[in-house]
Amino acid sequence: MKQLWIEEFRLCIGNLIDSPCVRRMQQFPQHGDVSTLEHCLMVAFISYVICRFLGLNRYAAARGGLLHDLFLYDWHKPNPYPGLHGFTHPKIALHNARKFFSISDLEADIIRTHMWPLTFWAFPHHWESLVVSCADKLCAVCETFGLVRRARNTRALGWIAGLCISWA
Ligand SMILES: [Fe+2]
Ligand SMILES: [Fe+2]
Repeated sequence: MKQLWIEEFRLCIGNLIDSPCVRRMQQFPQHGDVSTLEHCLMVAFISYVICRFLGLNRYAAARGGLLHDLFLYDWHKPNPYPGLHGFTHPKIALHNARKFFSISDLEADIIRTHMWPLTFWAFPHHWESLVVSCADKLCAVCETFGLVRRARNTRALGWIAGLCISWA
C-alpha cells in the first residue's frame, strides 16, 4: 500500500518535478541543511497523505505543496525583491508557479496562503490550504531542529527523505 501511495504521489506531481524551475529549488537552502526542493517535497508528501486520509483534494495538495516555495532565490542572502521574505515570498512563488505552469484556483490558494497566520490578510479559503500551511510549519520546525537529518538515517522515516533525495 505504501508503494501505491508513493506511485500516486508521483503521478500527482509528475509534470512538475521534472521541470527545470522546480529542480532549481535544489540550489537554495531552506532550513539547516535541507534544500528548498527537499522541503517542498516533504510538505507536498505530508499534505498529500493527510488530504488522502481526510478525503480532500490530494492532487491539488501535492501540487500546491510542491510549488508553495517556488520563489527561486536564497532567502538567507539579499535578494532582488523588496520587503521581508516571510511576508512577500508566497506572492513571488505564486507568480512563478503561474508563469511556468497551468495551476488551478485551489493550487493558487494553497501557495498564496501557506504562510497564514503570519500573512493574516491571506486567509486559507480551502481545507487543503490549511493542511499545506500546517505541514509547512511542521516541516520547518523539523528541519530547523535537525530532525530531517536524523530521519534520513532511520528506517521508519528514511523512505520519505530517501524519496525526496532520489528526486532532488
Ligand atoms: Fe514558504
Ligand atoms: Fe515552506
